Amino acid sequence: MTTSCIIRGLGHCVPENRLTNADLERMCDTNDEWITTRTGIKERRIASEGETTVSLSHQAALMALDNAGMKAEDLTHILVATFTPDAYIPSAACMLADRLGIKGRTCMDISAACSGFLFALETARAYVCLHPEAKILVTATDVVSSRVDYSDRSICVLFGDGAGAAIITGAGADFPNGSGRVLDVMLATDGSAHDLLTVKGGGSGSPVKPGGIVSRDFFVQMNGREVYKYAVRAMSSICREMLEKHGLTNDEVDVFIPHQANLRIIDAVGTRLEMPTEKIFTNVHKYGNTSAASVIIALSEARQEGVIKDGNLVLLSTFGGGFTWGSALVRF
Ligand code: UT7
Repeated sequence: MTTSCIIRGLGHCVPENRLTNADLERMCDTNDEWITTRTGIKERRIASEGETTVSLSHQAALMALDNAGMKAEDLTHILVATFTPDAYIPSAACMLADRLGIKGRTCMDISAACSGFLFALETARAYVCLHPEAKILVTATDVVSSRVDYSDRSICVLFGDGAGAAIITGAGADFPNGSGRVLDVMLATDGSAHDLLTVKGGGSGSPVKPGGIVSRDFFVQMNGREVYKYAVRAMSSICREMLEKHGLTNDEVDVFIPHQANLRIIDAVGTRLEMPTEKIFTNVHKYGNTSAASVIIALSEARQEGVIKDGNLVLLSTFGGGFTWGSALVRF
Protein backbone atom coordinates (compact mmCIF):
# COMPACT_ATOMS: atom_id res chain seq x y z
CA MET A 1 0.00 0.00 0.00
CA THR A 2 1.19 3.53 -0.78
CA THR A 3 2.12 5.23 2.45
CA SER A 4 3.20 8.62 1.25
CA CYS A 5 2.67 10.96 -1.67
CA ILE A 6 4.49 13.23 -4.05
CA ILE A 7 4.03 16.93 -4.71
CA ARG A 8 4.52 17.10 -8.50
CA GLY A 9 3.69 20.71 -9.10
CA LEU A 10 3.15 23.90 -7.14
CA GLY A 11 1.39 27.14 -8.00
CA HIS A 12 0.12 30.30 -6.39
CA CYS A 13 -1.84 33.41 -7.24
CA VAL A 14 -2.43 36.66 -5.37
CA PRO A 15 -4.63 39.57 -6.46
CA GLU A 16 -2.91 42.55 -8.15
CA ASN A 17 -4.58 45.05 -5.84
CA ARG A 18 -2.29 46.12 -2.95
CA LEU A 19 -3.49 47.46 0.41
CA THR A 20 -0.57 49.16 2.15
CA ASN A 21 -0.21 50.29 5.76
CA ALA A 22 -0.48 53.87 4.48
CA ASP A 23 -3.85 52.98 2.88
CA LEU A 24 -5.04 51.51 6.20
CA GLU A 25 -4.00 54.68 8.05
CA ARG A 26 -6.60 56.48 5.93
CA MET A 27 -9.28 53.83 6.61
CA CYS A 28 -9.10 53.37 10.40
CA ASP A 29 -7.26 54.49 13.54
CA THR A 30 -3.95 52.73 12.96
CA ASN A 31 -0.43 53.53 11.81
CA ASP A 32 2.46 51.94 9.95
CA GLU A 33 4.67 51.88 13.06
CA TRP A 34 2.11 49.89 15.12
CA ILE A 35 1.40 47.43 12.30
CA THR A 36 5.06 46.91 11.45
CA THR A 37 6.29 46.40 15.01
CA ARG A 38 3.36 44.15 16.06
CA THR A 39 3.04 42.09 12.89
CA GLY A 40 5.84 42.73 10.37
CA ILE A 41 3.18 43.28 7.68
CA LYS A 42 3.74 46.14 5.20
CA GLU A 43 1.06 45.36 2.63
CA ARG A 44 -1.45 42.72 1.61
CA ARG A 45 -3.25 41.78 -1.64
CA ILE A 46 -7.00 42.31 -1.78
CA ALA A 47 -9.39 40.74 -4.29
CA SER A 48 -11.03 43.12 -6.75
CA GLU A 49 -14.61 42.71 -7.90
CA GLY A 50 -14.98 39.37 -9.67
CA GLU A 51 -11.91 37.86 -7.99
CA THR A 52 -13.09 35.03 -5.76
CA THR A 53 -11.83 31.90 -4.07
CA VAL A 54 -12.65 29.92 -7.21
CA SER A 55 -11.02 32.36 -9.66
CA LEU A 56 -7.82 32.64 -7.59
CA SER A 57 -7.76 28.85 -7.09
CA HIS A 58 -8.14 28.43 -10.85
CA GLN A 59 -5.07 30.59 -11.58
CA ALA A 60 -3.00 28.80 -8.93
CA ALA A 61 -4.18 25.43 -10.26
CA LEU A 62 -3.16 26.28 -13.85
CA MET A 63 0.34 27.18 -12.62
CA ALA A 64 0.58 23.95 -10.59
CA LEU A 65 -0.63 21.82 -13.53
CA ASP A 66 1.88 23.49 -15.84
CA ASN A 67 4.60 23.00 -13.24
CA ALA A 68 3.68 19.29 -13.04
CA GLY A 69 3.50 18.90 -16.82
CA MET A 70 -0.11 17.76 -16.50
CA LYS A 71 -3.50 18.74 -17.91
CA ALA A 72 -6.73 19.33 -16.03
CA GLU A 73 -8.22 16.20 -17.67
CA ASP A 74 -5.57 14.12 -15.89
CA LEU A 75 -7.01 15.02 -12.46
CA THR A 76 -9.07 12.50 -10.50
CA HIS A 77 -9.82 14.55 -7.35
CA ILE A 78 -10.06 18.23 -6.39
CA LEU A 79 -9.79 19.37 -2.78
CA VAL A 80 -10.20 23.05 -1.89
CA ALA A 81 -9.25 24.17 1.62
CA THR A 82 -11.06 27.41 2.42
CA PHE A 83 -13.27 29.18 4.93
CA THR A 84 -14.38 31.66 2.25
CA PRO A 85 -15.94 29.56 -0.53
CA ASP A 86 -17.76 31.51 -3.26
CA ALA A 87 -21.00 29.96 -1.95
CA TYR A 88 -22.21 27.43 0.63
CA ILE A 89 -23.68 25.41 -2.25
CA PRO A 90 -22.06 24.49 -4.57
CA SER A 91 -18.64 23.78 -3.09
CA ALA A 92 -15.66 25.76 -4.37
CA ALA A 93 -14.18 22.43 -5.52
CA CYS A 94 -17.19 21.70 -7.78
CA MET A 95 -17.01 25.22 -9.21
CA LEU A 96 -13.27 24.88 -9.74
CA ALA A 97 -13.76 21.60 -11.63
CA ASP A 98 -16.21 23.40 -13.90
CA ARG A 99 -13.69 26.22 -14.55
CA LEU A 100 -11.10 23.60 -15.38
CA GLY A 101 -13.57 22.00 -17.80
CA ILE A 102 -13.74 18.59 -16.12
CA LYS A 103 -16.63 16.49 -14.77
CA GLY A 104 -17.18 13.28 -12.86
CA ARG A 105 -14.30 13.72 -10.40
CA THR A 106 -14.42 13.61 -6.61
CA CYS A 107 -14.49 17.26 -5.57
CA MET A 108 -14.94 18.68 -2.08
CA ASP A 109 -14.07 21.55 0.22
CA ILE A 110 -12.16 21.19 3.47
CA SER A 111 -12.65 23.51 6.44
CA ALA A 112 -9.72 23.94 8.81
CA ALA A 113 -9.25 27.74 8.70
CA CYS A 114 -5.58 28.76 8.40
CA SER A 115 -4.45 25.12 8.70
CA GLY A 116 -6.47 24.17 5.64
CA PHE A 117 -3.56 23.30 3.36
CA LEU A 118 -2.11 20.65 5.67
CA PHE A 119 -5.55 19.15 6.37
CA ALA A 120 -6.14 18.90 2.60
CA LEU A 121 -2.66 17.49 2.02
CA GLU A 122 -3.30 14.76 4.61
CA THR A 123 -6.66 14.00 2.95
CA ALA A 124 -4.87 13.70 -0.42
CA ARG A 125 -2.33 11.40 1.22
CA ALA A 126 -5.18 9.17 2.40
CA TYR A 127 -6.75 9.19 -1.09
CA VAL A 128 -3.56 7.99 -2.76
CA CYS A 129 -3.47 5.09 -0.28
CA LEU A 130 -6.97 4.09 -1.43
CA HIS A 131 -6.39 4.94 -5.10
CA PRO A 132 -2.67 4.70 -5.96
CA GLU A 133 -3.34 6.09 -9.46
CA ALA A 134 -5.06 9.23 -8.13
CA LYS A 135 -3.93 12.63 -9.41
CA ILE A 136 -5.17 15.16 -6.94
CA LEU A 137 -5.38 18.92 -7.18
CA VAL A 138 -5.22 20.55 -3.75
CA THR A 139 -5.83 24.26 -3.57
CA ALA A 140 -5.81 26.28 -0.37
CA THR A 141 -7.40 29.65 -0.93
CA ASP A 142 -9.02 32.40 1.08
CA VAL A 143 -10.52 35.73 0.16
CA VAL A 144 -10.35 36.80 3.79
CA SER A 145 -11.22 40.38 2.81
CA SER A 146 -14.81 39.17 2.20
CA ARG A 147 -15.05 38.53 5.97
CA VAL A 148 -13.07 41.49 7.32
CA ASP A 149 -14.63 44.61 8.80
CA TYR A 150 -12.29 47.39 7.66
CA SER A 151 -13.39 49.60 10.56
CA ASP A 152 -12.04 47.02 13.05
CA ARG A 153 -8.37 47.96 13.36
CA SER A 154 -7.54 44.92 15.50
CA ILE A 155 -8.36 42.63 12.55
CA CYS A 156 -8.19 44.49 9.24
CA VAL A 157 -4.43 45.10 9.35
CA LEU A 158 -3.67 41.38 9.64
CA PHE A 159 -5.24 39.65 6.64
CA GLY A 160 -4.88 39.41 2.86
CA ASP A 161 -6.21 37.25 0.01
CA GLY A 162 -4.48 34.58 -2.02
CA ALA A 163 -4.39 31.03 -3.38
CA GLY A 164 -1.88 28.19 -3.52
CA ALA A 165 -2.09 24.87 -5.34
CA ALA A 166 -0.31 21.53 -5.34
CA ILE A 167 -0.66 18.47 -7.57
CA ILE A 168 -0.44 15.31 -5.48
CA THR A 169 0.11 11.76 -6.73
CA GLY A 170 1.02 8.46 -5.12
CA ALA A 171 4.64 7.82 -4.19
CA GLY A 172 5.19 5.14 -6.81
CA ALA A 173 8.49 4.40 -8.48
CA ASP A 174 8.67 7.51 -10.63
CA PHE A 175 9.79 10.77 -9.04
CA PRO A 176 9.96 13.47 -11.73
CA ASN A 177 12.55 16.22 -11.46
CA GLY A 178 11.45 19.03 -9.20
CA SER A 179 8.97 16.93 -7.20
CA GLY A 180 8.78 16.78 -3.43
CA ARG A 181 8.17 13.61 -1.44
CA VAL A 182 5.77 14.16 1.47
CA LEU A 183 7.41 12.19 4.26
CA ASP A 184 4.82 12.85 6.93
CA VAL A 185 1.94 15.07 8.01
CA MET A 186 0.81 15.55 11.61
CA LEU A 187 -2.45 17.29 12.50
CA ALA A 188 -4.12 18.37 15.74
CA THR A 189 -7.20 20.25 16.93
CA ASP A 190 -8.60 21.71 20.15
CA GLY A 191 -12.32 22.49 19.84
CA SER A 192 -12.46 23.86 23.40
CA ALA A 193 -10.77 26.99 22.01
CA HIS A 194 -13.45 27.47 19.34
CA ASP A 195 -14.55 30.88 20.64
CA LEU A 196 -11.12 32.52 20.41
CA LEU A 197 -11.09 32.88 16.62
CA THR A 198 -14.42 32.89 14.80
CA VAL A 199 -16.53 33.85 11.80
CA LYS A 200 -19.99 32.90 13.02
CA GLY A 201 -22.46 35.03 11.11
CA GLY A 202 -24.37 33.28 8.34
CA GLY A 203 -23.78 29.86 9.89
CA SER A 204 -26.70 27.80 11.24
CA GLY A 205 -25.80 28.98 14.74
CA SER A 206 -26.13 32.64 13.70
CA PRO A 207 -28.49 32.61 10.72
CA VAL A 208 -28.98 35.72 8.63
CA LYS A 209 -32.69 36.53 8.21
CA PRO A 210 -34.06 38.04 4.98
CA GLY A 211 -33.62 41.83 5.26
CA GLY A 212 -31.70 41.37 8.54
CA ILE A 213 -28.68 43.34 9.64
CA VAL A 214 -25.19 41.93 9.09
CA SER A 215 -23.75 42.08 12.59
CA ARG A 216 -20.10 42.04 13.75
CA ASP A 217 -20.11 38.26 14.04
CA PHE A 218 -20.31 38.05 10.24
CA PHE A 219 -16.64 39.12 10.23
CA VAL A 220 -13.46 37.63 11.68
CA GLN A 221 -13.41 38.04 15.47
CA MET A 222 -10.38 37.09 17.49
CA ASN A 223 -8.82 37.26 20.92
CA GLY A 224 -5.41 38.17 19.47
CA ARG A 225 -3.36 37.68 22.65
CA GLU A 226 -4.73 34.20 23.39
CA VAL A 227 -4.40 33.15 19.74
CA TYR A 228 -0.83 34.40 19.72
CA LYS A 229 0.19 32.40 22.83
CA TYR A 230 -1.55 29.19 21.74
CA ALA A 231 -0.19 29.44 18.16
CA VAL A 232 3.41 29.76 19.35
CA ARG A 233 3.07 26.81 21.74
CA ALA A 234 1.18 24.57 19.31
CA MET A 235 3.36 25.15 16.23
CA SER A 236 6.63 24.74 18.09
CA SER A 237 5.51 21.59 19.90
CA ILE A 238 4.13 19.84 16.79
CA CYS A 239 7.30 20.67 14.84
CA ARG A 240 9.45 19.33 17.66
CA GLU A 241 7.30 16.17 17.75
CA MET A 242 7.67 15.77 13.97
CA LEU A 243 11.46 16.08 14.09
CA GLU A 244 11.74 13.70 17.06
CA LYS A 245 9.48 11.14 15.35
CA HIS A 246 11.85 11.06 12.36
CA GLY A 247 15.04 11.22 14.40
CA LEU A 248 15.92 14.60 12.87
CA THR A 249 17.54 17.72 14.29
CA ASN A 250 17.24 21.34 13.18
CA ASP A 251 20.53 20.97 11.34
CA GLU A 252 18.91 18.56 8.91
CA VAL A 253 16.06 20.95 8.05
CA ASP A 254 17.01 23.20 5.13
CA VAL A 255 13.95 25.43 4.98
CA PHE A 256 11.28 26.05 7.65
CA ILE A 257 7.94 27.48 6.44
CA PRO A 258 5.66 28.40 9.35
CA HIS A 259 2.15 29.83 8.96
CA GLN A 260 2.60 33.41 7.73
CA ALA A 261 0.32 35.09 10.28
CA ASN A 262 2.62 37.51 11.94
CA LEU A 263 6.39 38.00 12.08
CA ARG A 264 6.40 37.98 15.89
CA ILE A 265 4.72 34.55 15.98
CA ILE A 266 7.18 33.28 13.35
CA ASP A 267 10.16 34.63 15.35
CA ALA A 268 8.84 33.17 18.61
CA VAL A 269 8.34 29.71 17.03
CA GLY A 270 11.79 29.92 15.42
CA THR A 271 13.35 30.80 18.79
CA ARG A 272 11.60 27.94 20.59
CA LEU A 273 12.77 25.50 17.92
CA GLU A 274 16.25 27.08 17.89
CA MET A 275 15.85 27.34 14.12
CA PRO A 276 18.44 29.67 12.52
CA THR A 277 16.70 32.75 11.08
CA GLU A 278 18.25 32.20 7.65
CA LYS A 279 16.38 28.88 7.35
CA ILE A 280 12.98 30.48 7.98
CA PHE A 281 11.11 31.56 4.84
CA THR A 282 8.79 34.54 5.24
CA ASN A 283 6.58 36.53 2.89
CA VAL A 284 4.12 37.86 5.49
CA HIS A 285 5.46 41.41 4.97
CA LYS A 286 3.97 41.50 1.44
CA TYR A 287 0.83 39.35 1.75
CA GLY A 288 -0.28 39.48 5.42
CA ASN A 289 -2.10 36.42 6.73
CA THR A 290 -3.76 34.70 3.74
CA SER A 291 -5.29 32.00 5.99
CA ALA A 292 -5.39 28.56 4.30
CA ALA A 293 -3.22 29.84 1.44
CA SER A 294 -0.40 31.04 3.67
CA VAL A 295 2.03 28.09 3.74
CA ILE A 296 1.26 26.84 0.22
CA ILE A 297 1.89 30.27 -1.31
CA ALA A 298 5.15 30.40 0.66
CA LEU A 299 6.11 26.87 -0.43
CA SER A 300 5.39 27.64 -4.09
CA GLU A 301 7.29 30.95 -3.95
CA ALA A 302 10.26 29.47 -2.10
CA ARG A 303 10.53 26.73 -4.72
CA GLN A 304 10.07 29.16 -7.63
CA GLU A 305 12.71 31.55 -6.22
CA GLY A 306 15.21 28.72 -5.74
CA VAL A 307 15.22 29.07 -1.95
CA ILE A 308 14.22 25.38 -1.82
CA LYS A 309 16.74 23.36 -3.83
CA ASP A 310 16.61 19.75 -5.03
CA GLY A 311 17.41 17.48 -2.10
CA ASN A 312 16.30 20.02 0.53
CA LEU A 313 14.27 18.96 3.54
CA VAL A 314 11.38 21.36 4.22
CA LEU A 315 9.42 21.61 7.46
CA LEU A 316 5.97 23.23 7.28
CA SER A 317 3.72 24.30 10.12
CA THR A 318 0.23 25.82 10.31
CA PHE A 319 -2.15 27.17 12.94
CA GLY A 320 -5.75 28.37 12.68
CA GLY A 321 -9.21 28.76 14.14
CA GLY A 322 -10.82 25.71 15.66
CA PHE A 323 -8.12 25.55 16.92
CA THR A 324 -6.38 23.51 14.21
CA TRP A 325 -2.67 23.06 13.68
CA GLY A 326 -0.17 20.77 12.01
CA SER A 327 3.22 20.15 10.51
CA ALA A 328 4.58 18.38 7.44
CA LEU A 329 7.97 17.19 6.24
CA VAL A 330 8.74 17.28 2.52
CA ARG A 331 11.94 16.19 0.78
CA PHE A 332 12.47 17.92 -2.59
O1 UT7 B 1 -3.90 32.46 11.89
C1 UT7 B 1 -3.87 32.97 13.18
C2 UT7 B 1 -4.39 34.38 13.09
N1 UT7 B 1 -4.16 35.16 14.22
C3 UT7 B 1 -3.07 35.94 14.43
O2 UT7 B 1 -2.10 35.93 13.76
C4 UT7 B 1 -3.14 36.90 15.57
C5 UT7 B 1 -2.27 36.57 16.73
N2 UT7 B 1 -2.20 37.73 17.57
C6 UT7 B 1 -1.36 38.77 17.35
O3 UT7 B 1 -0.58 38.70 16.44
C7 UT7 B 1 -1.40 39.96 18.24
O4 UT7 B 1 -2.19 39.66 19.40
C8 UT7 B 1 -1.97 41.20 17.52
C9 UT7 B 1 -1.00 41.68 16.45
C10 UT7 B 1 -3.32 40.89 16.87
C11 UT7 B 1 -2.16 42.35 18.52
O5 UT7 B 1 -0.93 42.60 19.20
P1 UT7 B 1 -0.92 42.78 20.77
O6 UT7 B 1 0.44 43.16 21.17
O7 UT7 B 1 -1.49 41.52 21.36
O8 UT7 B 1 -1.87 44.01 20.97
P2 UT7 B 1 -3.21 44.14 21.81
O9 UT7 B 1 -4.34 43.45 21.11
O10 UT7 B 1 -2.96 43.76 23.22
O11 UT7 B 1 -3.44 45.69 21.73
C12 UT7 B 1 -2.49 46.60 22.27
C13 UT7 B 1 -2.99 48.01 21.98
C14 UT7 B 1 -4.44 48.22 22.38
O12 UT7 B 1 -4.56 49.54 22.87
P3 UT7 B 1 -4.61 49.80 24.46
O13 UT7 B 1 -5.79 49.03 24.96
O14 UT7 B 1 -3.31 49.30 24.99
O15 UT7 B 1 -4.79 51.28 24.52
C15 UT7 B 1 -5.19 48.11 21.09
O16 UT7 B 1 -6.38 48.84 21.08
O17 UT7 B 1 -2.93 48.24 20.56
C16 UT7 B 1 -4.20 48.73 20.12
N3 UT7 B 1 -4.40 48.29 18.73
C17 UT7 B 1 -3.98 49.01 17.68
N4 UT7 B 1 -3.36 50.20 17.58
C18 UT7 B 1 -3.07 50.66 16.36
C19 UT7 B 1 -4.97 47.16 18.30
N5 UT7 B 1 -4.93 47.12 16.95
C20 UT7 B 1 -4.33 48.26 16.55
C21 UT7 B 1 -3.99 48.78 15.30
N6 UT7 B 1 -3.35 49.98 15.26
N7 UT7 B 1 -4.27 48.14 14.14
